[in-house]
Amino acid sequence: MAKLRYLGHSAFYLVGVGLMALIDPFLSGPTAAAKPDDFTDINYIFLTHGHGDHIGSTIEIAKRCGATVFSCNELAAFLASKGVKVEGMHIGGRAKFPFGRVKLIPAWHGCPVIDGTETRYGGVACGFVIEVDGKKVYHAGDTGLTMEMSLLADENIDVACLPIGGYYTMDAEDAARAVKMIKPRIAVPMHYNTFPVIKADPQEFAKFVGIGQTETKILDPGESIAF
Ligand code: NI
Ligand code: MN
Repeated sequence: MAKLRYLGHSAFYLVGVGLMALIDPFLSGPTAAAKPDDFTDINYIFLTHGHGDHIGSTIEIAKRCGATVFSCNELAAFLASKGVKVEGMHIGGRAKFPFGRVKLIPAWHGCPVIDGTETRYGGVACGFVIEVDGKKVYHAGDTGLTMEMSLLADENIDVACLPIGGYYTMDAEDAARAVKMIKPRIAVPMHYNTFPVIKADPQEFAKFVGIGQTETKILDPGESIAF
């Protein structure tokens, strides 16, 4: 059984056999439910893109724990230059790892490399399908609604983590349309209420999703689901 703990914003702690992972570990925001120092045995980090509210404490945690960071190839090259172990995959690519397979999913969003005061090309933003314990988790990263999501219907996604805050990403209404395309067993809203411009009501998202094959699980920062 895999376990997913929401750490606020788009950050999650995902645990299964052979996997103690963080996804987009931005742990300094107003809704963060953990601190970087809380994690001592992380073996993998999944990084959807280079914006500060996603890369967060990636470099610090990866170096301290000796964790390997999954990201698109260009962002991985930057992380490697900072002394971090990386898997620099790319969009549509799938590969097998000791805990299970990983696939990079298109996301319509930017992906800068921010190095001090300099902003450079960092490849493209992505989402991930992460397989662990025979289950599939889709973390969309930051993205607008895209037709590519309909391809995920055949993947039998167990848990889909979707941004609902609007402004930079899908809002609750578009995220519910994404749910209809992806058809996951469980949908978890993320990327909302961290900052004023991404204020959103997760209950509204649940209402748009409605009652059907997908169950909406609204997690408060710090809460977990086992699946
Ligand atoms: Ni972003
Ligand atoms: Mn973001």
